[in-house]
Amino acid sequence: MELRKALPRTRLWRSIFRHGISPTNRNRVLVVMDNVFLHLHSAKVRQRNLEVTSTFFLGAIALILFGVLTVSGLLLMLYYHPSVPQAYFDMKELQFVVSNGVFLRNLHRWSAHGMVLVVFLHMLRVFFHRAFRPPREFNWVVGVVLLLLTLLLSYTGYLLPWDQLAFWGVSVGTNMARAMPLLGSEVRYLLLGGNIVGENALLRFYVLHCVLLPLVLALGVAVHLWRVRKDGGVVGSGGRRRPRAGKEEEP
Ligand code: HEM
Repeated sequence: MELRKALPRTRLWRSIFRHGISPTNRNRVLVVMDNVFLHLHSAKVRQRNLEVTSTFFLGAIALILFGVLTVSGLLLMLYYHPSVPQAYFDMKELQFVVSNGVFLRNLHRWSAHGMVLVVFLHMLRVFFHRAFRPPREFNWVVGVVLLLLTLLLSYTGYLLPWDQLAFWGVSVGTNMARAMPLLGSEVRYLLLGGNIVGENALLRFYVLHCVLLPLVLALGVAVHLWRVRKDGGVVGSGGRRRPRAGKEEEP
């Protein structure tokens, strides 16, 4: 008990948590505002916006799936080599040799399918609640970029098993990119690192899938959540809530 009282007064504690522990309303607000995780929600929230039908938690579920994908993807990286002679055998090793390898692979695969579906449903929810209207139009655009990144992550991951499905799927997809006006051939060349789906393409898709796209997506999500907060929290099922022009609702 003594320790509980003494700890919040130590220099170490105060360097991390700036607020005291007195049970005043002001302090309760400071506890929320000083904490990066609690701060994601506004200090004051309308009760209506906490109901399930307000957001169906779709944005949060998308975020959780992204977390599951990151962790399972990192574990898969421990067993996978992005090289033409090895990639397919690594998949077979995961299936038949690595303990729980099938579970790990399926977890990653189904979470990826789930994320595409959930992000799309989240977009529909935002649309039908008319949450794309000012002042949230910028966040809608950030959301569109997040949807594209989610789809690109799925597409780049598709090549990595280096089986027939992957090879021909990417052949068809990059040929479609070539049909694009003006820069089509250049985009295909850039994606594949050449003119054929080979060693260079596998390496490029691997780097895009494991490093570049997840980093950009994580940055985009940070901006997205920050904007939700700065635009005055979620609209919820009402679709009417707008902060007055030039006034942010949250400090
Ligand atoms: C990686 C994908 C995404 C993640 C992780 C994500 C996450 C979130 C979260 C956690 C919220 C707050 C709670 C909620 O509304 O569920 C939110 C709100 C919002 N999202 Fe997303 N989102 C993503 C994609 C999108 C897409 C594709 C769009 C639209 C094109 C979009 C547009 C919005 C808008 C406008 C809001 C504010 C909603 C409101 O004020 O009611 N987001 N997002």
